[in-house]
Amino acid sequence: MPLSPAPAYGSAMLPPGTFEGKVIAITGGGTGLGKAMGLEFARLGGKIAILSRDGEHRAKGIAAITGEGGIAAGFAIDVRDGEAITKCFDAIEAELGPVDVLINNAAGNFGCPAEDLSVNAWRTVVDIVLNGTFNCSREFARRRMIAGKGGAILNIGASYAWTGGPGVSPSASAKAGVTNLSRSLAVEWAPSDIRVNTLVPGTFPHDDTSETLRRHLTANRAAKACPAMRVGQTHELGWAATYLCSPYAAYVTGLTFVIDGGRWLRPGLAAPEFVPVREQLGAGPFEG
Ligand code: COA
Repeated sequence: MPLSPAPAYGSAMLPPGTFEGKVIAITGGGTGLGKAMGLEFARLGGKIAILSRDGEHRAKGIAAITGEGGIAAGFAIDVRDGEAITKCFDAIEAELGPVDVLINNAAGNFGCPAEDLSVNAWRTVVDIVLNGTFNCSREFARRRMIAGKGGAILNIGASYAWTGGPGVSPSASAKAGVTNLSRSLAVEWAPSDIRVNTLVPGTFPHDDTSETLRRHLTANRAAKACPAMRVGQTHELGWAATYLCSPYAAYVTGLTFVIDGGRWLRPGLAAPEFVPVREQLGAGPFEG
């Protein structure tokens, strides 16, 4: 028997109006898990700033939120570009107001054996995931400190930060950095009433899952690989995100919150047969 399903999409988890008038900036918030989290914040009264470099993604996120009666606006940004981030936060302030909550969700990832990666491929993923998280966090914290107001940052981690991620080594390394950075910043910024936590999602299928990922990871296979014997529902992830950034988590900082149905704890005596990464990815022999 699988772990019980969560209450239905649209059920209230926090009191209505928990984020009334607050501005929640979500990098990569136009699609996938970023969009799902935005929907839960919007349902609780938050105004959602969708930060993405892709206009179509921004439009998708805005449509999802306004379609349910929420407030959302899109802002063009590449999180690798520090100077542009300052201008982006100015634009958010002008349109929605100062950012109260920052979700560092933007990421880049692809399956590739390490020996096949170019130097630029490695740099690109680390730049988006780790440097992008720092760039946005720094901008957010400076503004909150100058305003004398607290706030909450939620970074999106991954459980391969602890185990390593064969085939996704740049992302795994960068996520390990993000988990560690969250803890450093939690301690540094607690005296400014800024909380910093990390949310680690397991498998949450959604409409925007890339073709590549779909090929490797069907919902059915993911459910069979998980002790919960089911995949996650995206609104469950949204609830975790809203709780961690809400006043109800006022004493929670530096936490790494895993929501994966026990998936990452699974290794045991009955390990599945080892498959080399090149074989897993269908990469063929390395030819230099
Ligand atoms: N395998 C190996 N190398 C890859 C690759 C892959 N599947 N995809 C991209 N790269 C390399 C590129 O070749 C390039 O290196 P090069 O200049 O030496 O050729 C480098 O990575 C940068 O790629 P590029 O696409 O130019 O960068 P970008 O900044 O426009 O986009 C990504 C970077 C990671 C966002 C993009 O590759 C991508 O769309 N990935 C899939 C979607 C995704 O990551 N979604 C998030 C899921 S968490």
